[in-house]
Amino acid sequence: MAKPKKIDDRERLVKLAPVAEAPVRRHVFVCNGKSCAAVGAAEVKAEFERILTEKDIRYGKPSKGRNPEGPVVLTDCGSVGFCSVGPAVLVYPEGVWYAQVQAEDVSEIIESHLERGEVVERLALIGEFGTN
Ligand code: FES
Repeated sequence: MAKPKKIDDRERLVKLAPVAEAPVRRHVFVCNGKSCAAVGAAEVKAEFERILTEKDIRYGKPSKGRNPEGPVVLTDCGSVGFCSVGPAVLVYPEGVWYAQVQAEDVSEIIESHLERGEVVERLALIGEFGTN
């Protein structure tokens, strides 16, 4: 496997990866591992996509219906070890891990946590407000 050529010029890096200078405040990961997928992770991700897009707060390219100034990045992730209590949703920078998230919980996570900074304690298992 070839090693990628290292780019040191910051201006060029930002041109290649505009997210580096975007006003991103939070990153939401939705687990798409096998166990989470079996209990509704795709529906959870779709609901995040729908509401974040509707509110125009999802970071991304306008050609994809997203906002280059959006404060929220939404991505999938692989299994994080919450397999028995999925779907797992992780929110950073707070490091809150939500368990057993269903599509109907997503609007509360967005309005409470992403918009007001208030963790949804009833779903949080790891993080400042979780039990760990
Ligand atoms: S499959 Fe989602 S935490 Fe393991």
